[in-house]
Amino acid sequence: MSPSDLNDRVALITGAAGGIGQALARAFVAAGLRVALCDTAKDGLRLLQGELGAERTIALPLDVSDPAACRDSVARTIARFGRLDVLVNNAAIGMSVVREDHMRRVVQIEDITPELWARFMAVNLSGPFNMAHAAVPGMRAQKFGRIINVTTSFFTMLNPGFSPYGPAKSGLEAWSASLAGELLGTGITVNVVVPGGPTDTPMVPDDGSIERSQMIRPQKMAPPMLHLASDAGSAVTGMRFVAAEWDAAVPVAEAMAASGAPAGWPELARSPVWPGGGPKRG
Ligand SMILES: NC(=O)c1ccc[n+]([C@@H]2O[C@H](COP(=O)([O-])OP(=O)(O)OC[C@H]3O[C@@H](n4cnc5c(N)ncnc54)[C@H](O)[C@@H]3O)[C@@H](O)[C@H]2O)c1
Repeated sequence: MSPSDLNDRVALITGAAGGIGQALARAFVAAGLRVALCDTAKDGLRLLQGELGAERTIALPLDVSDPAACRDSVARTIARFGRLDVLVNNAAIGMSVVREDHMRRVVQIEDITPELWARFMAVNLSGPFNMAHAAVPGMRAQKFGRIINVTTSFFTMLNPGFSPYGPAKSGLEAWSASLAGELLGTGITVNVVVPGGPTDTPMVPDDGSIERSQMIRPQKMAPPMLHLASDAGSAVTGMRFVAAEWDAAVPVAEAMAASGAPAGWPELARSPVWPGGGPKRG
């Protein structure tokens, strides 16, 4: 059951026309939220809005690599629904953009042009920054906000052949941890939610390399995000949740403990050489 405080909360989901984005949009609307659906895929947005209805959704075609378009989408969401409470940075491009057969034939550095490298950084890393940069002023003013960044498994970040996707996602993971610290005490939380492995969406090529029925269902991403969006999520920031390990059938505290850990690599940040004994945290 969804907490009643989710009723009429306003979310903006990027990549809403994709596999995980659609699942999130359906779950958010079912939980009572009003949702801005953002994606480059105009037809996908139109279909999804047709299904979910125009009363509780707005469809905003958007390229997250364009800062002005991100500002515009936040402004239009607020103009339509009065506020923006939850930003889900879910849009991304996957390795098929480099090469369709990347699962069967490992991508090499020679396959990646400087333009492709820059595009991955612009969409998968700068996109979430552009959206948060546009959304934070309003969230700060209303003393309430939720920023949820979708990164990926640590395995994928380091996996040979998954560059530039992995490095862009590791940047997003690190930034999520530092932004959470910057925004402490503002009412704005920043967390990461990842599926926890290959998920059955168009991002994973249909080339028979992974059995689709054994992949994670995109719907698994919704319960941890809805909890973060609720009032009960207020105290949770700087965390990373593995959706596949979130059991919606057990009490939330148990689900959180089983699937959560601090975002990023805080355990590796503890022992730098630093004059005076250690760096001061911001
Ligand atoms: N599928 C997986 O196995 C998997 C695993 C770990 C993490 N993820 C992450 O989950 C998120 C959702 O991915 P998905 O699996 O649903 O993939 P998907 O390809 O189905 O959806 C991604 C969506 O993002 C949109 N998009 C791409 N570039 C955009 C841009 N510049 N501006 C706006 N929208 C843009 C696409 O049009 C698409 O609808 C991504 O961040 C992805 O990296 C996916």
